[in-house]
Amino acid sequence: MEKHIFLTHGCVGAEDRESLLGQKGSVLWMTGLSGSGKSTIAQELECALHKSGRLSYVLDGDNVRHGLCSDLGFGDADRSENIRRIAELSKLFADAGLITITAFISPFRKDRDFVRKMVPPGRFVEIFLDVPLEICESRDPKGLYKKARKGEIADFTGISSPYEKPENPEISICTGKEDLHSSVKKIMDYLRERQII
Ligand code: ADX
Repeated sequence: MEKHIFLTHGCVGAEDRESLLGQKGSVLWMTGLSGSGKSTIAQELECALHKSGRLSYVLDGDNVRHGLCSDLGFGDADRSENIRRIAELSKLFADAGLITITAFISPFRKDRDFVRKMVPPGRFVEIFLDVPLEICESRDPKGLYKKARKGEIADFTGISSPYEKPENPEISICTGKEDLHSSVKKIMDYLRERQII
């Protein structure tokens, strides 16, 4: 398939774009159960980065599944394909110099590790939304847990489909205990420490 395809390189490289933008292209990968707060933190983080003059972009599971991944369901193979596509996209965005914030359940460790290997070392920041199932289920912002318990949604993460916790995430946040402001501050501090911004 790839035999007659050749990579081309322009005269502007990733480092040129990064010095233009004054930031390091990176992927801030949020993972956690539905209702753990991924989208909320992603949006607030994007605001904080924007206010500090940084170019970022949010890729959110619910949104991406309306477009790029609208052909995919929630079986194991489709979830892996979902993450593979986002991995490729995040890699390109990081090369473009963007700070990409992703909000996907991404329940499988091997899929998250696949993304980690795709971007340059130090540019993948795994952020684990460490919120117990009971809390996510009690929030149930979209009413999906209720439906899953009644058997109306198949393969629902945490109920009838597994979630593999990260073993060594760069950042862990428990939105049950930490408020939105301190969660975002924790990530911003990390980005400054690592000189991503
Ligand atoms: S992932 O597992 O492939 O990473 P993704 O983050 O894209 O999932 O999509 C999760 C969102 O889809 C949830 O926030 C929820 O709103 C919705 N959803 C619909 N069906 C399911 C399901 N079976 N399991 C989990 N989330 C579901």
